[in-house]
Amino acid sequence: MLIGCPKEIKNQEYRVGMTPAAAQEAIAHGHKVIIETNAGTGAGFVDDAYTAIGAEIVGSAADVFARADMVVKVKEPQPIERKQLREGQILFTYLHLAPDPEQTRDLLASGVTAIAYETVTDRNGGLPLLAPMSEVAGRLAPQSGAWALQKANGGSGVLLGGVPGVRPANVAIISGGVVGTAAARVAVGMGANVTVLDRSVPRLSYLDDVFMGRLTTQYSDKGAVAELLERMDMVIGAVLIPGAAAPKLVSRDQLGLMKPGSVLVDVAIDQGGCFETSKATTHDDPIYEVDGIIHYCVANMPGAVARTSTIALGNATMPFMLALADKGWKQACEDDENLLNGLNTHAGKLTYYAVGKALGIDVVSPKMALKM
Ligand SMILES: NC(=O)c1ccc[n+]([C@@H]2O[C@H](COP(=O)([O-])OP(=O)(O)OC[C@H]3O[C@@H](n4cnc5c(N)ncnc54)[C@H](O)[C@@H]3O)[C@@H](O)[C@H]2O)c1
Repeated sequence: MLIGCPKEIKNQEYRVGMTPAAAQEAIAHGHKVIIETNAGTGAGFVDDAYTAIGAEIVGSAADVFARADMVVKVKEPQPIERKQLREGQILFTYLHLAPDPEQTRDLLASGVTAIAYETVTDRNGGLPLLAPMSEVAGRLAPQSGAWALQKANGGSGVLLGGVPGVRPANVAIISGGVVGTAAARVAVGMGANVTVLDRSVPRLSYLDDVFMGRLTTQYSDKGAVAELLERMDMVIGAVLIPGAAAPKLVSRDQLGLMKPGSVLVDVAIDQGGCFETSKATTHDDPIYEVDGIIHYCVANMPGAVARTSTIALGNATMPFMLALADKGWKQACEDDENLLNGLNTHAGKLTYYAVGKALGIDVVSPKMALKM
């Protein structure tokens, strides 16, 4: 199979879909790999690192899209990229379709077979291709929020860890999932007073055990969230209902409950955001203010630490990428139901129920798509 990897074009996105290590494995499996020139430079992988292992460097993204049987990327295809996708081609990348009707429409119009990293599952019901980036975004969330709390950024001027004689900041993390746990680890490490909320009692129990009294756990209901807002200096939102648009957990009215200059960090923004006032921002211009509350809503947080993120993502995607290349998408998905769960579009049909429900589009079951 001819596998192609274009340079990412989303704002401040320096990650790359294939590391030289992944390209080398694919070539060892008998495939051909083409990489757009400078695709890996931002993550520290120069063109020579790819040519040294036998990949071909091509001059433009157009070459990659025109020639590749499978396009491997990081972020959802941007409008100009979507125009170059075609029926019979595999797209393997993050998509986050539920909050994105335009992208969904374009992918369906292209006929491409799109497998979304974020809906591939593992045998424990986890999301193995989302998890590495969630680990990164979770660790970044408290440090980004701490920066937003500084006066120069419009924040209240509270230092996360406090100092002797001055109380630390209060941080609530809504979600005890992968992002929430990583965020808790860093926020606790920075000395903040941390509360984690989730709707999964087993998850709260796990966190209670692991953190051994260094944070508070609380069941997440509307009353608990409202009560916490009054006391918090920072609220990190990272809830997920796989594939679906994020539920809104804090309304605009409730911003009035918070202290002026407090910070909301909406990590779930890639699924539409879990605060009513969230709108996606970029690393160029990451924060904005609504009713005195600073919002940080960067949709590609891991892009800020592109090298770590690229390697972590490549480690997770490689076995799936190899299965798709070795067997073709149909056989690979027939053999592995977890990979089949990643199928979001095929030949103009939507194949992921939660996306169909969010966008009001008819869905064909993934098993049916295997027969098309
Ligand atoms: N902005 C970024 O750059 C970036 C990067 C990585 C991940 N993300 C996003 O972060 C989100 C979380 O990802 P994850 O890997 O941690 O998911 P996860 O599945 O590990 O965790 C989600 C958690 O949310 C909990 N939850 C669901 N509804 C809830 C509610 N109403 N109240 C409290 N908890 C609730 C679930 O019980 C679960 O523990 C996803 O939307 C993901 O796409 C964003």
